[in-house]
Amino acid sequence: MAEEKKLFKVTIDNITVEVEPGTTILNAARMIGGDVTPPAMCYYSKLKGSGGKCRTCLVEVAAGSTADPRPMPKLVASCRTTVMDGMIVKNITSEKVPDARAGVVEFLLLNHPLDCPVCDQAGECHLQDLSFDHGKEGTRYEFKRRTFEKHNLGPYIQLHMTRCILCYRCVYTADQLTEKRAHGVLDRGDHAQIATFIEKNLDSDFIGNVIDVCPVGALTDKTFRFKNRVWFTKPVDAHRNCTKCCGEVQLWMRGDEVFRVTARKDEWGEVKESTKGGTGWICNDCRFDKKSVSDWTIEGPSNVSRHSVISQGHYVGLQKPTETMPAVMGGRQPRLLMDIHSVSEVNPESVELSKINRPAHSSDFNSDKS
Ligand code: SF4
Ligand code: FES
Repeated sequence: MAEEKKLFKVTIDNITVEVEPGTTILNAARMIGGDVTPPAMCYYSKLKGSGGKCRTCLVEVAAGSTADPRPMPKLVASCRTTVMDGMIVKNITSEKVPDARAGVVEFLLLNHPLDCPVCDQAGECHLQDLSFDHGKEGTRYEFKRRTFEKHNLGPYIQLHMTRCILCYRCVYTADQLTEKRAHGVLDRGDHAQIATFIEKNLDSDFIGNVIDVCPVGALTDKTFRFKNRVWFTKPVDAHRNCTKCCGEVQLWMRGDEVFRVTARKDEWGEVKESTKGGTGWICNDCRFDKKSVSDWTIEGPSNVSRHSVISQGHYVGLQKPTETMPAVMGGRQPRLLMDIHSVSEVNPESVELSKINRPAHSSDFNSDKS
């Protein structure tokens, strides 16, 4: 009879979960999900060896294990620390973690330009989210920010080195998905940069995936550059028969126009497994060359987290609340109930905001009156 695998019990922010030995604290926290999960800027579950670079995933280990319940003396990187049986971890319940994370954000932003208004990654940038959740207003940094000589990486990928946080994800991607890696991190310390040494195009078949893994706007899609803001486009799931990859993608559309093609992402912002089994990485043909709706079989609107800026104006998966008014008002009936459409001329019922392929403006409502 096969021996039953012993699972380890780990408690994170007072929630206990059983995981297999060898699981990292970060992955144990991802099993619980929600706020308990530390942010991760460099770890990427689909890339072997990733993690341990950015320190955003720091957590406090209040008890190492049942056998040795002493706390760990310093905060640890949850993406690189494996759980022990009886381990007690504090993330959002820790007093030390928020301060440490704020420090990490401050470091990441030391040289990062504040060019979100013109950055193509805005709206889906992990550093924006991280700064919003853990950053501080203002900066104590008084020196000039780093600048770099411009590197041209070819017709597909735009490099903005000043935005790079040196997470190494793109290096692992090139190592693990392409036949020959042409770029890497050159130089050390303040001079460290992503480059190809002797200027070279990045054009191997799966290299476009570096755009999807880059947590910031350092690597962006040249075919989409400055064409639109992600929150004005609508993501839809689509597929095609591709001989090189799984062919399962997300099309970022406005009306009938396909602005951008990306791999599908899961709730951690990482490429989703393909429904056919295997990885969901996509090839350059699907990403850069198939920009017509007729190239694809559309499956339907993608599920977008309602907390994401991309979900603005997207009302897919709308559900009626199950509670009645008294249920949410502690048993009381409302004194006054108004139908917004009957008391205001704003947003008449006949105008379906979800069907407008851009932000609504006054002319949408005026045209309804005429
Ligand atoms: S370019 Fe992007 S993915 Fe590559 S190291 Fe810099 S931040 Fe990470
Ligand atoms: S995600 Fe753990 S160190 Fe970067």
